[in-house]
Amino acid sequence: MRSVILGSGSALPKRVVSNAELAEKVDTSDEWIVERTGIRQRYIADETETTATLGTDAAKRALDAAGMAADQIDLIVVATATPDNTFPATATKIQALLGIDDCIAFDVAAVCTGFLYALSVADSMLRGGNAKRALVIGSETFSRILDWEDRTTCVLFGDGAGALVLEARDGDAGILTTKLHAQGKHNNLLYVDGGPSTTQTVGHLRMKGREVFRHAVVNLAEVLEETLGEVGLSNSDIDWVVPHQANQRILDATAKKLGLPREKVIITVDQHANTSAASVPLAFDVAVRDGRIKRGDLVVMEAMGGGLTWGAAALRY
Ligand code: UT7
Repeated sequence: MRSVILGSGSALPKRVVSNAELAEKVDTSDEWIVERTGIRQRYIADETETTATLGTDAAKRALDAAGMAADQIDLIVVATATPDNTFPATATKIQALLGIDDCIAFDVAAVCTGFLYALSVADSMLRGGNAKRALVIGSETFSRILDWEDRTTCVLFGDGAGALVLEARDGDAGILTTKLHAQGKHNNLLYVDGGPSTTQTVGHLRMKGREVFRHAVVNLAEVLEETLGEVGLSNSDIDWVVPHQANQRILDATAKKLGLPREKVIITVDQHANTSAASVPLAFDVAVRDGRIKRGDLVVMEAMGGGLTWGAAALRY
């Protein structure tokens, strides 16, 4: 049994914010942001758009693509670090918005690696027989936790959601393996300075960007090699890498370290900025819909984020 991707979907807020618009509010420039990150714009949610509504829109598109009705889903896993509420899980809000009466629904928190963690958990549950059809969603509204006066972070992130419909099936297609890591000793490099148990405020994102960057390139290259090694494949077997979209320079450095041509890397950071747990499924859906990722392709996903956490997945689409 493998977890096969039957469909993907994504959703973005209506409002696009350019680098030039940000430069009117903080001491930054389009030139600095493009040169250091590759980001040209990001989507920012309005008050009617939340992690649950964006996740629901992405899920509906994934269900459409899969040709499946919502009530056929028996597992919803949502990766998010920006839930609508502290509890209940955003997964249960999405379940209600989709009109599903009863299924397993919970959130996973691994920040930018969240989607890889969610995918791995869903894959285990599908293969273990706990569920037959899963919605795995990455959805975030990081704009709500940004310090809009901190130019070192507020220019980097955006809002959005991506979703996959998975089904347990026999055959060659599906998730081949997932590899996950965490090193809590580095949790001070990327964190939110608030929370219910500490400050009783939501808090703001804080990041030591240069140090996260350094860890990212090393960890991502290692976990990609580990993932391919596990399934007995090499770099030349990869059709597409769908990376977490944090910084164009991280994407370039990781591809270079692995000797992967840039044309095999799906890049959306210029359009979406860093959407944390949403970035991998969003990029995947973009590349499926524009015809780059095709059935039968070997796809590798990877991500790294707060925790520090990092991980990768290899799959035959
Ligand atoms: O998704 C989770 C994983 N997160 C990441 O992977 C993020 C990893 N880190 C990064 O992507 C990069 O480190 C950043 C994009 C965050 C920063 O790029 P950098 O090349 O590492 O810049 P830096 O932090 O070394 O800052 C260089 C200079 C500093 O000025 P001084 O001290 O040299 O005078 C900053 O104050 O750039 C300045 N700076 C800015 N200038 C204009 C920082 N932010 C800005 C800004 N506009 N927005």
